[in-house]
Amino acid sequence: MEYSEKVLEHFRNPRNSGQPEKFNAMGMAGNAKCGDVMKIFLEIEDDKIADVGFKTFGCAAAVAASSMATELIKGRTIEDALALTNDDVANALDGLPWEKMHCSVLAEQAIKQSVADYYKRQGIDPTPIVGVLDDGFGHMDENY
Ligand code: FES
Repeated sequence: MEYSEKVLEHFRNPRNSGQPEKFNAMGMAGNAKCGDVMKIFLEIEDDKIADVGFKTFGCAAAVAASSMATELIKGRTIEDALALTNDDVANALDGLPWEKMHCSVLAEQAIKQSVADYYKRQGIDPTPIVGVLDDGFGHMDENY
């Protein structure tokens, strides 16, 4: 298994790492098989991702995917963030080994969870907007 230069570069020098000082949405996704977990924090202003951060407890690909995914949605609209797929993230990293594709799924799912949280905090049911989400562990427990 080989990582692209871009994966290694984002792993060594992750963008938007950590919890931003101000955020109004948070979502997490995990993979029960490998046990890795990704948390995405969003500061949404006027339907735009004004700031974003992440905390990832996972493999190099998961860290690189978090870094790349946050770069791809920063400054974009909520709609753009929801349209981001795991393939977009993997392609932007010049590909991932197939056994590491699930790491990019965490990024897509954690972003969707975070947007769902944003709506929930306003008393809006996110399901019609974001769809039915699963945190990867079969529940919505955010305390880990
Ligand atoms: Fe599980 Fe990468 S091996 S997120």
